[in-house]
Amino acid sequence: SRSINLAVIPGDGIGQEVVAQGLKVLSAVLPQDVKLETKEFDFGAKRYHATGETLTDADLDALKKHDAILLGAIGDPSVPSGVLERGFLLKLRFAFDHHVNLRPSKLLPGVATPLAGQPEIDFVVVREGTEGPYTGNGGTIRKGTPHEVATEVSVNTAFGVERVVRDAFARAQARPRKKLALIHKNNVLTFAGHLWTNIFNKVAAEFPEVTTEYMHVDAATIYLVTQPERFDVIVTDNLFGDIITDLAAAVSGGIGVAASGNINPSGEFPSMFEPVHGSAPDIAGQGKADPSATVLSVALLLRHLGYDSEAARIEDAVSADLAERGATPRTTDEIGDALAARVSG
Ligand code: IPM
Ligand code: MN
Repeated sequence: SRSINLAVIPGDGIGQEVVAQGLKVLSAVLPQDVKLETKEFDFGAKRYHATGETLTDADLDALKKHDAILLGAIGDPSVPSGVLERGFLLKLRFAFDHHVNLRPSKLLPGVATPLAGQPEIDFVVVREGTEGPYTGNGGTIRKGTPHEVATEVSVNTAFGVERVVRDAFARAQARPRKKLALIHKNNVLTFAGHLWTNIFNKVAAEFPEVTTEYMHVDAATIYLVTQPERFDVIVTDNLFGDIITDLAAAVSGGIGVAASGNINPSGEFPSMFEPVHGSAPDIAGQGKADPSATVLSVALLLRHLGYDSEAARIEDAVSADLAERGATPRTTDEIGDALAARVSG
């Protein structure tokens, strides 16, 4: 019989509330014969304050034993900026080689967008997840003096670029429109940009059915607002991907519905699924958080594990729930209940 052995990291702030709804919907959607086992981990600000630890080697060993990881959000104003980001989230992405950071953007019916009209937005960003300026390859000299110099070197390897570009081509090939855009800044970043462009063009030759285009990242921010419907699949580096996926979320319904997967395609390590939003300490514990982004992240998780029809049922449920959402605000729990009812009904 089938089973899913899931590591659950609720984390900080609203992470707790939204993850509870994600699990509720997951249990409701799974067929009887699939055994769901969950193990909760207490990473986040509380554990950091109590022990000074963010993510130890023993933690990584424990996480490794799971089929996938569901994360709420990690981060709290009581922890200095960068400590949990580098010590937990990025450490995990790097340790588990999550080189495909998958961030779909779909404007669902009835969902508000700041854009004029209701443009057809349905694209997915394949953001590289383990390289670029995120590697921590930098330094400071003459610190604290007026002549301080800080560098933050963007690392781009042919191996790392080619594998994420290939993943993006395969995803584009599998979609009806079969379009792929490379977003970079190769007019200025002539070393990394040319590496990306050359590899992109080389791999493109193996995917003759995929229509490709290249766009500078600054121009892309314009098109994401003025012509979002032109995008199908986008591939880009870690930092550009970080920035444009926040913009993408803003135009396609906001971070209340933005889901993501930190994927290790080979399955050597468990992939991690998380809402794009953070821990939102200002509204934590009040039942105000929209769990839709977490629930949609559960759908990505299921699809990654091969449960395609269950994933589709979750996406349909969220879509229907959003379309029928009235003016009366509901609590986090009520939205979770409604989604669980839809996927089981
Ligand atoms: C994200 C976040 C992270 C990133 C931060 C919290 C390290 O902004 O997942 O997009 O920059 O990748
Ligand atoms: Mn981000």
